[in-house]
Amino acid sequence: MPSRSFLVNSVKYFCNESIKFGRYNLVKPGNVSRSLSIPECIPKPSYYLTGVPSETLNSIDIKDHKQILQMKKACRLAANILKSVSQHIKIGQTTDEIDKFVHKLTIENKAYPSPYNYKHFPKSVCTSVNNVACHGIPDDRPLEDGDIINVDITVFFEGYHGDCSKTFLVGDVDEIGINLVESTEECLNMAIDMCKPGRRFRDLGEFISRSACLMGYTVIPAFIGHGLGTYFHGPPDIYHIANDYPGVMEKGMTFTIEPVIGQGTEMVEILEDGWTAVTVDGSRTAQFEHTICITNDGAEILTLPD
Ligand code: MF3
Ligand code: CO
Ligand code: CO
Repeated sequence: MPSRSFLVNSVKYFCNESIKFGRYNLVKPGNVSRSLSIPECIPKPSYYLTGVPSETLNSIDIKDHKQILQMKKACRLAANILKSVSQHIKIGQTTDEIDKFVHKLTIENKAYPSPYNYKHFPKSVCTSVNNVACHGIPDDRPLEDGDIINVDITVFFEGYHGDCSKTFLVGDVDEIGINLVESTEECLNMAIDMCKPGRRFRDLGEFISRSACLMGYTVIPAFIGHGLGTYFHGPPDIYHIANDYPGVMEKGMTFTIEPVIGQGTEMVEILEDGWTAVTVDGSRTAQFEHTICITNDGAEILTLPD
């Protein structure tokens, strides 16, 4: 039985065909290419030069009709870019090439790729493969047969951020992996269906973690959904596990739901690059994300493509 192992931050990982989590290759971060540039004509968010967002929001903002229309434009663009990315999810394609594609397409659409220098993130998109749970930095690793990859697109367009992600299958993914990906999307969709004015934010986490548990999975607590608008991340916090976060949804609120769901431990470790979050037991995770808006009687998904 082939067996390989390697160390990441003193944690030993095993890479073989027999572990209970299924058939896939463990990922360790590769080389990150030089930063791309953003043309002067693209309007920039507050953190473009400093890496530090300047917005401070103490309460959840309620958006009016005009602001929601702006949110829709940013969100639709993010979703369209994510849709275009799907054509580049192929064996042999590096995540760096995906980043270059997203960067170019975003700029061509007169938008700014929100991750770029957000809290010093070095690239324009997050690409998280297999045991990378979240915030993977695009690098020179080519996609391999059987990988699952989350691509998380956020754009800043006409002053507003739109944020969404999907997990894609590369080549021939084992059934355990396919089930994980499908179940994660289902958890997100069911959670969106619960949203309406008066619904407690905390209900989402309780529901998502219960559903994931019933399907035999765990929710990674470290990653939460968030409010967004003219700012990338703000209140409310959307926990995906049981929690006691206060407050209820109101018409005109916009926020993301973005559960990271895994096969093994809920524990992740952040690598030395300050971003890449890997599961400590090497298990795979999947993630899906939508930006939604609370309406009169429910919620509308804003991050839908044309
Ligand atoms: N798009 C991510 C989210 O869903 C945030 C990524 S932060 C970055 O909230 F800096 F890594 F881009
Ligand atoms: Co995102
Ligand atoms: Co988000």
